[in-house]
Amino acid sequence: MNKRYYVLVTCMLMLSLHHISLAQSHIDQLISNMTLEQKVGQMTQLNLGFLSTKSDQENVNIKQVDPDKLTEAIHGYHVGSILNNAGTAYTVDEWHDILRLIQDIALDTELQIPVLYGIDAIHGATYTKGSTLFPHNIGLAASRNRQLAYDIAVVTAKETRASGLRWNFDPVIDVGRNPLWPRFGETFGEDPYLVSQMGVNIIKGYEHDGLDSHTAVASCMKHFVGYSVPKSGKDRTESYISDITLWQKHIPSFKAAIEAGASTIMINSSMINDVPVHSSYEILTELLRNKLGFEGLIITDWEDIIRLHVRHKIAETPREAVKIAINAGIDMSMVPSSFSFCKHLVDLVKNGEIPEERLDESVRRILTFKTDLGLFNNPYPEVEAKSNFGDPQYRVLALEAARESMTLLKNENNILPLPKDKHYLVLGPGANCVSALNGAWSYSWQGDKEELYPDDYKTVMDVLTARISNKQLMSNVTNGYEDKNNFTLSFTEDELKKVDYVLLFLGENAYAESPGNIDDLTLDEDQIELAKRAANLGKPVVLILTEGRPRIINDFSDKMDAILMSYIPGSMGAQAIVDVLFGDYNPSGILPFTYPSHTGDLVTYDHKFLTAMVQTAPNKTKYGGHHPEFEYGHGLSYTTFSISPIQFASDTIDIKGVLDVSITVTNTGDVYGQKCIDVFLQDHYASYAPDMKNLKYFTKVSLNSGEEVELKFTLDSSDLFYYNEKGERMFEKGDYTLMVGDQSRDFYFAN
Ligand code: BGC
Repeated sequence: MNKRYYVLVTCMLMLSLHHISLAQSHIDQLISNMTLEQKVGQMTQLNLGFLSTKSDQENVNIKQVDPDKLTEAIHGYHVGSILNNAGTAYTVDEWHDILRLIQDIALDTELQIPVLYGIDAIHGATYTKGSTLFPHNIGLAASRNRQLAYDIAVVTAKETRASGLRWNFDPVIDVGRNPLWPRFGETFGEDPYLVSQMGVNIIKGYEHDGLDSHTAVASCMKHFVGYSVPKSGKDRTESYISDITLWQKHIPSFKAAIEAGASTIMINSSMINDVPVHSSYEILTELLRNKLGFEGLIITDWEDIIRLHVRHKIAETPREAVKIAINAGIDMSMVPSSFSFCKHLVDLVKNGEIPEERLDESVRRILTFKTDLGLFNNPYPEVEAKSNFGDPQYRVLALEAARESMTLLKNENNILPLPKDKHYLVLGPGANCVSALNGAWSYSWQGDKEELYPDDYKTVMDVLTARISNKQLMSNVTNGYEDKNNFTLSFTEDELKKVDYVLLFLGENAYAESPGNIDDLTLDEDQIELAKRAANLGKPVVLILTEGRPRIINDFSDKMDAILMSYIPGSMGAQAIVDVLFGDYNPSGILPFTYPSHTGDLVTYDHKFLTAMVQTAPNKTKYGGHHPEFEYGHGLSYTTFSISPIQFASDTIDIKGVLDVSITVTNTGDVYGQKCIDVFLQDHYASYAPDMKNLKYFTKVSLNSGEEVELKFTLDSSDLFYYNEKGERMFEKGDYTLMVGDQSRDFYFAN
């Protein structure tokens, strides 16, 4: 190292160590001066709506932030954190006004500790008017593009911080393994490796410049752990997960995020194996803190302490609920609409039921987090951050992301791409609706308020009208899913004669969390009927699905000539869909989940050998126990690709060794295209029944027609273990098969 550089680095290091110790001594001093009530206040998070009054506006749900209520909370109860909004999204300037008001009140206290504001900026800056919304995670996962995830997170961080908000309750790194679950669309799908890789990139994107930078936000990985597999499929209901499955499927994404330095974590509202996670010392302290080494802040989910009493019924009183949760390891309670937490916690400490030192640990984490976010240096919204809002390039990125997520599931006789000079009949409730394209967390919690979307957010109908002439389009579809006429087909014979193709837009309207609960994964009856009637017209039908989870379509899927999965593609979703339909963009997305064909066959691709088999007679079995509509990783293109036989440097690997792998991918078709490559591993025999296969690596290549690329990657022993029920890594010698596309090759792990 160059000497001058060495001196510079040493000075910088000393300065930052000095800065850290100054910060620590500031925090020590604060804690030693704090009353019990002040400590409890720091651990309390309230909803902005609770600190607001009903306004006289027409919409009764929108409230005005109330300075008196804020003062009562911050001065009277020393509350240290606030979240959410008071019933609506705000402009950047409105956010700045609200946050300035809050910090003015906070700085007018004896200790002058700034308030920490948290928000759900999911797939973009959810609650800031005019922000850019990106595809939801489920579509982003289909792109298999880590860089894209990172870039989207950077933009989301910039627009969120520009709004004065520094803490983002995102990403969801729960693993989507029950497609009924209404938050399935918030996940990166069913595979733990895919979820880990995409989740870590999102976290790095949010925190990219350091938490005190005016371009970054703190992340909050959620919801630890096991939230995504409720037995009933309904949100916030119980899951039953064996320890081995917890380690193999649910813990890896959180482990990866912790190792990547994620700053905060939110807890699973529900229960695992009859134990509410918010009450579990074993999960929050022994597992999360001691075993996984998480040192950041642990926050509850919404009302989840009091719910130990009112819903989970494990605490006889609300006071008992507070005692259980704090002793389990919670740092901050998202109360969020009462002062009960403050009152009970003060009382519990005074009565010796919770040691004050336990509170000191949490308060130290909270104050350290506030310091890291730069709140003590500059508590007010950063005016210079405002210029990072609304850059037109963000919409370009949103279009790229929506395009890369598009997944072509079926294309009989290469009916797509469509000619631009034909006549089209446009049907289905999704054709003329912005909220279905943007889904949950879009300017409102449910995302279903069309009037809140920016004017430049287009419906598919808007884009179609601009792309081909109005005369080539026939449609009766009005706005959205509410209008029953949107499920009908009311055209005369003469009108229908002109039609060359039918474009059918089905799926789901926007929903978030429990309001999205369903009793049946099958698509609604009226949509199925419409699809059947469309198919009976005798014209080719292209089905475009816009949905956050795979709704079952097997009643009519065979009658569709093409099927395009658009997931929940966000602000530029309509453009991306139309681009794919007319060949202005060649689709490359591949499914991040198994698309089920039947409600009784909800199985992930990494199932056991048993699930693949059917026993036809006592000693006879055959394959065919599982019949998905579309397999995990399925996705077509307008070009074709070939994958060469897999090359290994050696056919054996030992515990310290690496296996160098190479494959050549060739674009054998006529047009440019991108190809997502999933690499799977199969362990032939193991002491605990192995999965059929597991994703170990993925990448994506871009190739012109006739072009080829050699892909090289390595496997090592970190790819060749599985977790047992204690979370120990099991390395077992034996035969393995590596699988890429239609290629596979065996090797031996010598251990
Ligand atoms: C959700 C969380 C969210 C929180 C705050 C809860 O209902 O489960 O994911 O971060 O609300 O809005």
